[in-house]
Order: sequence, then structure tokens, then C-alpha cells
Amino acid sequence: MIIAVMNYSGNVGKSMVARHLLAPRLGDASVISIESINADDNDGPTMRGSEFGSLQEKLLALDDAVVDIGASNVEDLVNRMKSYSGSHEDFDMFVVPTVPDAKQERDTLATIKALSDEIGIERERIRVVLNMVDPRDALRSKFASLFAFHDEHRGFVLREEASIHENELFGKLANSPITIGDLLADATDYKAMIREAQTSEQKTELARKVAMRRLAVGVNAQLDSVFAALMR
Ligand SMILES: Nc1ncnc2c1ncn2[C@@H]1O[C@H](COP(=O)(O)OP(=O)(O)OP(=O)(O)O)[C@@H](O)[C@H]1O
Ligand SMILES: [Mg+2]
Repeated sequence: MIIAVMNYSGNVGKSMVARHLLAPRLGDASVISIESINADDNDGPTMRGSEFGSLQEKLLALDDAVVDIGASNVEDLVNRMKSYSGSHEDFDMFVVPTVPDAKQERDTLATIKALSDEIGIERERIRVVLNMVDPRDALRSKFASLFAFHDEHRGFVLREEASIHENELFGKLANSPITIGDLLADATDYKAMIREAQTSEQKTELARKVAMRRLAVGVNAQLDSVFAALMR
């Protein structure tokens, strides 16, 4: 399955959703970051025609992939999907993460309108992930304008169960190559190492690793159920 993760807004968790929610549950699919495609050229953060062409080629050759589309590239991608008739068919699904914040919510509606009304992508292929949710909050009031828009528009999938809690683990992993899978697979006996550690700095560092692994277990279970709710 080829999934695009996009939102006109930055900082809604597109990269987190691509890397930690979707890729590991699509047979360890590769994550293609549109931002990184641009990292080497000096033309600024917009996608050029040749890059869109090479993205299309890449996707046609892959069974599973997650394409993480940086906020500054969304407009360009939408325009190209409008002009290259049928190119949106390269994606099986468009996942739109959003967070409870007025500006991000407006951008989320604009993203959904572009996909649905401008490009003509069907309801089942556009799915929202509610991100950075406080478990004590009522989702319908936190994301009031999004739910109101959904009630009248109906052209996309919005499910309360597809919501990811705010968790410090994501920030800790954001600039590191370590995945949640790596943390779960780490069988090191840190408690034994803590007993043998010589300095308090070493003990603190090891205790931090124990804490990360404990966080990862809970987050992984939550992401499993979010993925199931998103894909059902
Ligand atoms: N559920 C969450 N709980 C806590 N922190 C989160 C959560 N989701 C994302 N973050 C953090 O918020 C920041 C923004 O997330 P991320 O980089 O995934 O967003 P993005 O939409 O890809 O941003 P950009 O548009 O800049 O590419 C990161 O530091 C990330 O670790
Ligand atoms: Mg990103």
C-alpha cells in the first residue's frame, strides 16, 4: 500500500505518523520524505517537475511506501496531481494528521478540500489522524470545527478512535534514528547494569533507557489500535 501523509500545516506530526505509526505496520515500508528530495538543491523547498516525475517512477516500482510530504510541498503536489490526470491513483490513501489548534484545524480543512473537492479523491481514501490529544479531552469539542465540517461534507473518514495521545517519547525520538521497534527489541538488562554502574551519571543514563523502553511499550500498543481504527 502506498500512503501519502500530508497537511498544509507544519508541526502536526506528519513525519511522526509516517515513521512511527504507518511504516512499521506496512511491512516496514520505506518512508520517502519529499523534504529530503529537495535537501540537495538550492531552489528552495518546492518540488520541481522532474522530482514529481521521479517520485511517480519510484512509487510505481514499490509495493509499500509512506510518502511524508513536508508542509511547503503540499501545494505543489496538489497542483501537480491536478495537472497530471490520474496521478493521484499512485496513492492508495491520503492520511491527514491534525492537532487541536485553530490555525492547524483551518489548514486541515483546506487540505481535505483540496484532496476531495479539487482533485476528486473518494471518501475512503482520505483519512484523518487526530494527533497530540490529551486523553482527558472530549475530542468532538477539541476538534469542533473539523467534526462540524465532517458532518456536512462527509467526503473523508474521521474516526475518534484514530487519535494519538501526546507523549514525550515522540520528541525524544524525533532527531534520532531509533525506532519504537528498536526500543522494544532491546533486551539489555539495564537494571543489572545500574547495580554495577560506578557513577551517578551512568546510573541516570541507564535509568533513562529503562524509562524509554517502558514508554515505548505503551505507545506501541496505542499505535496498534490507532492503526486498526484508521484502516478498518
Ligand atoms: N503525539 C505527539 N506527542 C508529543 N509530541 C509529538 C506528537 N506528535 C508529534 N510530536 C512532536 O511534534 C513535533 C512535530 O512533529 P513532526 O515533525 O512529526 O511534524 P511535521 O508535521 O512532520 O512537521 P513539519 O511540517 O515541520 O515537517 C516533533 O518534535 C514531534 O516529535
Ligand atoms: Mg515533517
